[in-house]
Amino acid sequence: MTPYAMPPYRIKMVEPIRLIPKEDRVLRLKEAGYNPFKLRSEDVFIDLLTDSGTGAMSDAQWGALMQGDEAYAGSRSFYRLEAAVKEITGYRYVMPVHQGRGAEQVVLPLLVKHPGMIFLSNTHFDTTRAHVEIAGARAVDAPCKEAFDIAANIPFKGDFDLGLLEAQIRRVGKENVAGIIMTVTNNSAGGQPVSLSNLRAVSELAKRYGICRIIDGARYAENAYFIKQREPGYENATIRQIAREMFELADVFLMSSKKDGLVNIGGLIAIKEDETLFRMAQTRIVPYEGFPTYGGLAGRDMEALAVGLNEALEESYLAYRIDEVRYLGEKLRALGVPIQYPIGGHAVFVDCGSMCPQIPFDQFPAQAVCNALYLEGGVRAVEIGSLLLGRDPDTNENKKAPLELLRLTIPRRTYTFQHWDYVAEAFAKVYAMRSRIKGLRFDYESPVLRHFTSTFRPIE
Ligand code: F0G
Repeated sequence: MTPYAMPPYRIKMVEPIRLIPKEDRVLRLKEAGYNPFKLRSEDVFIDLLTDSGTGAMSDAQWGALMQGDEAYAGSRSFYRLEAAVKEITGYRYVMPVHQGRGAEQVVLPLLVKHPGMIFLSNTHFDTTRAHVEIAGARAVDAPCKEAFDIAANIPFKGDFDLGLLEAQIRRVGKENVAGIIMTVTNNSAGGQPVSLSNLRAVSELAKRYGICRIIDGARYAENAYFIKQREPGYENATIRQIAREMFELADVFLMSSKKDGLVNIGGLIAIKEDETLFRMAQTRIVPYEGFPTYGGLAGRDMEALAVGLNEALEESYLAYRIDEVRYLGEKLRALGVPIQYPIGGHAVFVDCGSMCPQIPFDQFPAQAVCNALYLEGGVRAVEIGSLLLGRDPDTNENKKAPLELLRLTIPRRTYTFQHWDYVAEAFAKVYAMRSRIKGLRFDYESPVLRHFTSTFRPIE
């Protein structure tokens, strides 16, 4: 018997992929300014850039798509989606948005009441950080100490450091904390889960100080699965029960549904009971996203999401999903590649800082390894390190990330174990030449979210 869960589905539709010749990859990467974000997807063989919107929908979702009600206001599809979200979260108010950052753009500025406020999080995702800064606030992270110690084999590396969290609240004063954002799973720390006991403690702390509690729940179902696997007392709970317990600990749920919503586009705002906040969000959603019963989505998108949200809570699906990521991670680990361990929920994170110590942080070691992996195998991964982190908004200095990570992100229900064998073989070749990989310098540096559009030159 394989020690990995079986996929609880079979394949009904396929999409061809193709490995272009090595000399073409060399050319394409150069044309892309050594930034894999600028490659065309047809020039990529196995695309591990993100798990966001890249998964496969089920037959039930494709069927639901046909039932989309495209009415501008009061669409039947909205009410289906609303019912699904209410049932899962127990929250009273639901609004669709076009994707996660749409939810951030609508809600986060409403919580910033005056200049000098901060948001606290186990780790802000990059668009979340951007929206916090655009709203005139600052994003402060309080992850547990082990989050960036890749060898620390603890079950909940996504947890907050509770002492640090409270110290930050006291440092700025509770009236200057706009909200506490609980990112589940903690994407930037390696897709690491947050325990219910930690969420509970954060929630109690926030309540004590009267601070708004927000769940950034792009991968909340994966987080709930880890809780069932790892947190004592939850072995016999259902994923739905665990998810409900997580939602009870917050006031607001923001979701990029492109992850655990199992759809290619979509996002959600749900508010537990604060009617005033809901009314204010409704006012903002109209100019930014669309009328509150579609929020930038087509009726058919809302149908697919209503179904996908429920599929993502199925335990057999989650067991395979998490095991698939673990399979690739264990293969790399067996080669000696330094990876964030235990392996997270949506990706394998390689520590390129320790893999290529010859490359300084501001020459972006993980971006350099990313490029080497594309050249070697046509595999596209993504840098999660100092390039992504950007510059300090106050000093304009390059910020140094705690780890220079390369994220091999696993799309949902998309590739097979044979693809993971191939990726591991390609990575093995890159690993063998790691001491010869060179850093990068900017040709063009984009002023915001620079990793998307900047271009580079390899350092000779
Ligand atoms: N929050 C988290 C934790 C995320 O991982 C993302 C997106 C967002 C918010 C924003 O959502 O993309 O729908 O606007 N993460 C993707 C990724 C892009 O590749 O990790 P979005």
